[in-house]
Amino acid sequence: MFGLFKKNKVLPTFAPLVTDMHSHILPLVDDGSKSLEESLEVMEIMKTTGFQQVRLTPHFQHPRFPNQADDILKRYQNFCGEVEANKGSRDLPTMCGISGEFRVDDGFQGYVDSNQLLTFHFADPKRGSDKGLLLIEFSLSQRRMGLDETVFNRQMEGYDIIIAHPERYPYFDSHSSMLEQFKEQGVYFQVNILSLDGFYGEVAQRRAFEYIENGWVEFLGTDMHNVMYATALKHASTNKKIIKLLETTEFENKNLAK
Ligand SMILES: [Fe+2]
Repeated sequence: MFGLFKKNKVLPTFAPLVTDMHSHILPLVDDGSKSLEESLEVMEIMKTTGFQQVRLTPHFQHPRFPNQADDILKRYQNFCGEVEANKGSRDLPTMCGISGEFRVDDGFQGYVDSNQLLTFHFADPKRGSDKGLLLIEFSLSQRRMGLDETVFNRQMEGYDIIIAHPERYPYFDSHSSMLEQFKEQGVYFQVNILSLDGFYGEVAQRRAFEYIENGWVEFLGTDMHNVMYATALKHASTNKKIIKLLETTEFENKNLAK
């Protein structure tokens, strides 16, 4: 009976996702956060929108961000120590690991050959492949030849593939035969939350909702970079269409391993 008198607590918009699985807030390794302080500020804002956990996915992209996995892992360990040290005084989400956002470009095969593809996993060990979930992105301007073959080859090697922000590539739309083919092959799609709020323009926004309506999208990500993105995320968390989407649609974010 006591429950009848309890007020319903409204959870923040992105609480159902639990985990953000796409961010660039490891400081000074790509075009994301430029300092520890900026990362902490961004993480505080992410927590207010409902994220309990954050996964870091720095760019691995040639020639702009030629990151190396061992260096990134070392920096991540240091960063986790700094986050822990600040937890007493700031309300921060938990760090739940690091992988990468690998661009399919001239340097990608080098990462494959040198075994540097950092991945993540589902919490349920019976789900997904041993090699894990690999977050990849494509050029945002020109379609590269052989994308389908590259994706297929990684699947054959035992990776589960997540394509980052498919709504942002100008050469794909909701009738794209290649996107349909990817879905038939069991490739996962991750839409950017900020796309849903119009941050990348009307076309990306329309496609983001269309792909979700098509049933193509398993993951949502912030693609968080800096305070400007965090402010935009805060704005997105008040968008009624996005609130409704989070209330009515299940995503896989919450099923990822910590
Ligand atoms: Fe990204």
